[in-house]
Amino acid sequence: MNQGQPVIAVTGLLLDQTMDRLGELGQVVLTTAGDLRAGHHHQDQVDAVVSLLADPIDAVVLQQLPGALIVANYAVGVNNIDLAAAEQLGIYVSNTPDVLTETTADLAFALLLAAARHLGAGERFMRSGRFTGWQPDLLLGVDVHHKTLGVVGYGRIGRAMARRGHGFDMRVLYCARSAREPGCCDARQTDLETLLRESDFVSLHLPLTPESYHLIDRRRLALMKPTAVLVNTARGPVVDEAALVEALAAKHLAAAGLDVYENEPHIQPGLLALDNVVLAPHLGSGSLETRVAMGELVAANVAAVLRGEPPVNAANAPAHPRKRAGAR
Ligand code: GLV
Ligand code: GLV
Repeated sequence: MNQGQPVIAVTGLLLDQTMDRLGELGQVVLTTAGDLRAGHHHQDQVDAVVSLLADPIDAVVLQQLPGALIVANYAVGVNNIDLAAAEQLGIYVSNTPDVLTETTADLAFALLLAAARHLGAGERFMRSGRFTGWQPDLLLGVDVHHKTLGVVGYGRIGRAMARRGHGFDMRVLYCARSAREPGCCDARQTDLETLLRESDFVSLHLPLTPESYHLIDRRRLALMKPTAVLVNTARGPVVDEAALVEALAAKHLAAAGLDVYENEPHIQPGLLALDNVVLAPHLGSGSLETRVAMGELVAANVAAVLRGEPPVNAANAPAHPRKRAGAR
């Protein structure tokens, strides 16, 4: 191991462009969250960790990293990292906001449209050879334009979703923990229950926290219109997935468009059995441009702490950030 160079542990292979950028900052070591937890031998030499969104970086893992200055998450959500434990240890946590906002809202709107117009069922229908010609009542969906869109969580991505709704002449409701600037047009702030009762499409755009865990539970699903569509591109555990399956199976809810799941990569068999659900494999930020830009942000965050500065996108605020102990 090169004694002078910073060591950057990456918990999964990233795009070549990103691996190259990190390689300009130090020696990149490919590892896994499991290896970090087990404490494989050179771990005391690690200066920075780059983590993927499904890697649990909890207090046990953090304690195995006595020299780490930062955990730079390759995601906007940081629910996989124990922020407080990192803060206490003087370890910065960073994320990749902004660059994925529009890309994620695009995917959310794509799921909304696909669920409303049965694009998933239509695909399966075509590929199974069942199409025998145009029919007046074949796979009839519901209109999206001029309907009511409810945006739950009104941060950057929620507002980007609201703008898309306005582009489709939708009436837009939103709810947020604090009073927010509408961000565009004439979105109306309301409480969650009103939003669920009045919306034809409900799209979730809030981070996973102890407060948002199972926010959309059986009781709240029951408030939604039987003709409504739920879209989740946030985090799976924001929705009680078993209750969602029940509601969809009983047609208490018309359809859902999902990009995230409660126990990824495990998918409830109940979801797979339903025709009124469009399923995507966590593709929210998945455009090439955005994934490259996320890598640039990760590298910028790592570079900043290696220079002795706070990360560009700090997700926590250690009172006594660790310093790199000279050239090791
Ligand atoms: C994706 O889910 C992210 O948080 O970036
Ligand atoms: C939060 O995920 C945001 O970027 O709005």
